[in-house]
Amino acid sequence: MERISGLEKKYVLEVLENQFQASKNNIFISRLEAKFAEIFHREFAVSLGNGTAAMHTALAALGVNPGEEVIVPSLTMSSPALAVLHNNSIPVFADADRKTFNISADSIRANITGKTRAVIVVSLYGLAPDYDQILKICRAKRIFLIEDNAQAFLSRYQGKLVGRFGDFASFSFQASKHLTCGEGGMLVTDTEALADKARKFAGLGYGSIGAKKGRVARSDIQDPNFDRHACFGFNYRMSELQAAVALGQLERAEELVEARIKSAGILSAAISDIAWLIPQHVPEGSVNSYWAYSVLLDLENPKEKWYQFRDLFVKNGGDGIYAAWKLTYREPFFRNEVQGYPGVRQKYARGLCPDAEYLQERILQFKTNYWDLKEAEKQAEILRKTIKSFRRLI
Ligand SMILES: Cc1ncc(COP(=O)(O)O)c(C=O)c1O
Repeated sequence: MERISGLEKKYVLEVLENQFQASKNNIFISRLEAKFAEIFHREFAVSLGNGTAAMHTALAALGVNPGEEVIVPSLTMSSPALAVLHNNSIPVFADADRKTFNISADSIRANITGKTRAVIVVSLYGLAPDYDQILKICRAKRIFLIEDNAQAFLSRYQGKLVGRFGDFASFSFQASKHLTCGEGGMLVTDTEALADKARKFAGLGYGSIGAKKGRVARSDIQDPNFDRHACFGFNYRMSELQAAVALGQLERAEELVEARIKSAGILSAAISDIAWLIPQHVPEGSVNSYWAYSVLLDLENPKEKWYQFRDLFVKNGGDGIYAAWKLTYREPFFRNEVQGYPGVRQKYARGLCPDAEYLQERILQFKTNYWDLKEAEKQAEILRKTIKSFRRLI
């Protein structure tokens, strides 16, 4: 299987053949949004330039104000916290769950203050967080929930598709994701007023676009009396070319996701009886779509052992292993600058989120984007060999 197939290429050619004529510049965007809404059983889908922009847009549309707090995971790529800063709001870091590696519901609860307006949760590596608990907290405290599904596609929680839980759910089509068009993003919601605000915020504040209307009509802009800007907005729009690729990918989503799940299964068979390699725990009822296959190297001196294991794997012909991102609050920008922003009350020092810190030092993140499963089998063999020789070192 090819990651980018003839279908995506055919759609891109159609866009080019349409010569970017104004009347034809919203065909694939509309089709992509309609199909997205249909798959996730959501009323509205709004396409965007990337996943970070999608979360910024969601916060703005929900009316989260500057200076208000938004709870985000500490163990993830930093975009949720960055989106909060883009909105001039304050990220508050929650700890992780030791078994699922996801944001801990208890830590969300403990971090709520009178200033908390929203929570952004990530389905880390493709596994949903504990939505049961998280929804209970959000409802009881009347705070908004935004799902960041950059790493999850067709994942399930208690049988229900991830993307159906939040006031908004966001997705990314950046190059490493399950579906890609190079860069891209999507928001889904069931509330027309929210979709309308999101569309306008991401579309330069044009008043004539809205929940289901992605582009300004030519007849409008030809009118000398046309009022363009009804509200504040960024230009976070997706292009027709991106939408053409993303639509092709969406129509092939099942096979693209399946390949990652199968690759993860092949890798997991290689570590099934190793006590010191503990995979991300998948609770009953959840389907992990495995953007990556993540494993805890559960040994003393994890820092030193992490490098030893990785180096051995690579020496044996392995594809490489990613570490988990530095915790966002330990990144230089956050420690050196954000720490001093008015209203930031957390201390971005070690010990803020002890379980996330424990996990970050130990996580081995294996690739799952093998479009030929023979390649995944080969990697699993190398993993077995690596484990065998690593045993002698511990
Ligand atoms: C959890 C998470 N959220 C958000 C993003 C950002 O998406 P984008 O690159 O489309 O802005 C990424 C990765 O890129 C991610 O892994």
